[in-house]
Amino acid sequence: MGELDLAFVQEQEHRPKLSIIEAEGIPEIDLSPIFHHEVQDQSAIDSLVKKIGSACKEWGFFQVTNHEVPLSIRQRLDEAARLFFAQSLEEKMKVARDEITPIGYFDKEHTKNVRNWIEVFDFFARDPTLVPLNCDENDDQVIQWSNPSPKYPPKFRNIIEEYIKEMENLASKLLELIALSLGLEAMRFEEFFKDTTSVFRINHYPPCPSPELALGMGRHKDAGALTILAQDEVAGLEVKHQISQEWVLVKPTPNAFIINVGDLTQVWSNDEYESVEHRVIVNFEKERFSIAFGVFPAHYIEVKPLDELINDENPPKYKPFNWGKFLINKKSDTLKKKNVENIQI
Ligand code: SIN
Ligand code: FE2
Repeated sequence: MGELDLAFVQEQEHRPKLSIIEAEGIPEIDLSPIFHHEVQDQSAIDSLVKKIGSACKEWGFFQVTNHEVPLSIRQRLDEAARLFFAQSLEEKMKVARDEITPIGYFDKEHTKNVRNWIEVFDFFARDPTLVPLNCDENDDQVIQWSNPSPKYPPKFRNIIEEYIKEMENLASKLLELIALSLGLEAMRFEEFFKDTTSVFRINHYPPCPSPELALGMGRHKDAGALTILAQDEVAGLEVKHQISQEWVLVKPTPNAFIINVGDLTQVWSNDEYESVEHRVIVNFEKERFSIAFGVFPAHYIEVKPLDELINDENPPKYKPFNWGKFLINKKSDTLKKKNVENIQI
């Protein structure tokens, strides 16, 4: 491996500390009370909702176990992802993002103008996904974004689609629990997800010659309602702890999913839950894979603090905005800047 290209070098204050002191990790939450019960155990559900509420407040992140997503689908996706990224750059570029549809293979991602040590393959949950044509408030024209069709490995697309179905089921359960934890009706968020702009994304972080200087993904917050992340056995994700403001490494728990609330949940909850900064450190010897599912509402949704959560003492902290226009604004900025700053989920 050669020397690290300067484009990847982080400013001193953002470089990772590689001698990490193991701190207490993000909460691990067992979802079994919401499954497998003919008569649901209300006190177990109440206690689960409480745990989710405290995790959202203190960390903005938690891990879930006993989530009912079959391990086999995750393993098949993991194998397929490894085969996909092991191809030559030329092959991967056949399903690269382009000026028309900003989704697919991508290896030049930047966060806050520093290049990330990463290559990515992303894919919409709906094909096609409808988005506004432009950011003009008075223009209702819609365009369609379609997914790439990778030819290799065989059945890659089917496996991704199967995994997305599982993520959508898990996301609706999590949104119910989060709604309850905010004192809302369980189905309060359902109306925002009748259509979706959700994005599935595989991240591959190759071994890095100077992991003390670079990041796999620079510090950022996620834009959507939630992100559901599967990380492999190589640690790398770091979360900024709300109370201590320290970067805390999330230790991999086999077959768990890491959940974090994004900017939309922050707005809907009027800052009751905050979208928390996170980043990814890289490794000199080991490559790392992660699979993220960004839970995004329909393009036509107007986002604003929910009426039930505002009152005279707690007035709305955000003005209403249109999700689709916000999304394409971010995406088209990306294209205008020739992929300098990429939207992150
Ligand atoms: C990861 O842990 O690899 C991804 C984190 C993110 O999507 O922000
Ligand atoms: Fe993220």
